[in-house]
Amino acid sequence: MTSAHADALLRALDERTATIAIVGQGYVGLPVAVRASEQGFPVVGYDLDAQRIAHLTATISYVEDVPDAHLAAAVARGFRPTDDAADLEGFDVAVITVPTPLRDGAPDLSFIESAARTVAGHLRPGVLVVLESTTYPGTTEELLRPILEATGLRAGTDFFLGYSPERIDPGNTQWTFVTTPKVVSGVGEDSLAAVEAFYGTLVDKVVPVPSTGEAELVKLLENTFRHVNVALVNELAMFARDLGVDIWSAIDAAATKPFGFMRFTPGPGVGGHCLPIDPSYLAWRVERRLGQSFRFVELANDVNNHMPDYVVSRIAALLNEQERAVKGSRVLLLGLSYKRATSDWRGSPSMLVAERLLEQGAHVRVHDPLVADDAELGLAVTRVGCTDNELEAADIVVLLVDHPDLRYDAICTRSRLLLDTKGCLRGKQFRGEVL
Ligand SMILES: NC(=O)c1ccc[n+]([C@@H]2O[C@H](COP(=O)([O-])OP(=O)(O)OC[C@H]3O[C@@H](n4cnc5c(N)ncnc54)[C@H](O)[C@@H]3O)[C@@H](O)[C@H]2O)c1
Repeated sequence: MTSAHADALLRALDERTATIAIVGQGYVGLPVAVRASEQGFPVVGYDLDAQRIAHLTATISYVEDVPDAHLAAAVARGFRPTDDAADLEGFDVAVITVPTPLRDGAPDLSFIESAARTVAGHLRPGVLVVLESTTYPGTTEELLRPILEATGLRAGTDFFLGYSPERIDPGNTQWTFVTTPKVVSGVGEDSLAAVEAFYGTLVDKVVPVPSTGEAELVKLLENTFRHVNVALVNELAMFARDLGVDIWSAIDAAATKPFGFMRFTPGPGVGGHCLPIDPSYLAWRVERRLGQSFRFVELANDVNNHMPDYVVSRIAALLNEQERAVKGSRVLLLGLSYKRATSDWRGSPSMLVAERLLEQGAHVRVHDPLVADDAELGLAVTRVGCTDNELEAADIVVLLVDHPDLRYDAICTRSRLLLDTKGCLRGKQFRGEVL
C-alpha cells in the first residue's frame, strides 16, 4: 500500500497534471522532455547553457532523434525550455540528465552535484526526483540523497527518489526511447512505485530492479560488455590480418550460430560519451572500494585506444605501396562522428586519426554529412563535400563512419586508394583494403 503522498503523485501522473522538469537538455534530456510533452504533461526543460535554450526556444533541435517538427509541436503544447532555475518551482517530477565525464581518469560528478543542489532548492513533500545520468553504483544513495535530504525532507517518505539508466542509441530508429525497455529503481517501495508509474507513461515497458545500486550497475554492465566485445574483435582483426585470415568472413559465419554468440565488428576505435567513459567509472569504483583493478576494462581500454594509431599505420602502409609518404599526402576522411547516423563527434576516433595524420604532415580533408559545418573541431582540417572531385583528388580515402547516406558507389569507383575501416564496402569493387 502506498502513502498519501505517493497516491497523490500517482494520481497526478495518471491525469497528466504533474509538472515534469528535465534538468539537462542534451542528447538524453531533450528526448525525455519532448516525449513527456507528447504524453500530455506540462514540461519544463532546464539547462545552464543559454545557447542551447535559445535554440530550443526557436524550435531548432540539435539532437537528430528529435526532429524540429516534434520540438515545435512540444513548444506549441507548452514545453518550456529555460535557463532560469526559478522555473523549476512547483515541479512534481524532476529528471536529472547532466553529463558525467571523466576528469584525469576519475569520475567527475560535479554536474550531478550542482544539478542536485538546484533541484533541492525547489524540493517539496510528495515530489519525485530521478537520476538518469550514467554513474557508478552508489551515486544515488551516497551523493544525490544527502544533498536532497539536507532540505530536512526524507527520501522514500517525504519525497521519492530513484535511478533509471538511459539506454538511448542515437540514430537507431528501431530501438527508440519509447520502444527500449526502461530499467527503473527507487529508494523504498513508494519511490519505486512512483518511478515505475512515471516511466510507464512514457515508454512501452518498464523493468523494475530491487535497488538503485543495481539499476546503476545495469548501465555499466551493458556498456562494459559492449566495450570488451568491441575490443575482442578489434584485437582479433589485427591478429587475423597478420595470420592471413579474413576476420569479417569469420564474424559473419560465427554470427549464424543461433545461440551463445553476439555479433560485434572491428572499427577505428570507440568514441562518444559511453564506451570510452562508462567502464572506467566502474573500474574506478572497484579500485576505490575494493582496492582491485578491473582487468577486463583496462585491457579493453588498451586495445580500443590503440585502434586510431592502427588505422594510421594502415594508411601509411597503403600509401607506402604507392611510393608515397604520409607527409604531403592528401587524405580524405569520411565520417567525423563517433558512430553512424549521429552528429555527435565528442571523443570520436576520427578526430584522433585526423590529429595523428596532421602530426605526420598529411593534408587532411574531412567529410561528414551530419556534423554541423560550424562545429569547432580545434583541428587544422578542411571540411569538404563528398564530391567526385574530392574523391579523385585524394591520395587515399579513409572510410571511418558508415553513415547511411554516404555516396558508397562513388566512393568505390572514384577513390584512387581506399581504406574501409567499417567493412561496409565488402563485396564491392574498389582499389584498397578493408581494416
Ligand atoms: N548521449 C548518449 O547517447 C547517452 C546514452 C545513455 C546515457 N548517457 C548519459 O546521460 C548523461 C547525459 O548525457 P548527454 O549525452 O545528454 O549529455 P549532453 O552534454 O548532451 O547534455 C547534458 C546537458 O546538461 C547541461 N547541464 C550540465 N550541468 C547542468 C546543471 N547543473 N543544471 C542544468 N543543466 C546542466 C549541459 O549544459 C548539457 O546541455 C551522461 O551521464 C551520459 O553518460 C548518454
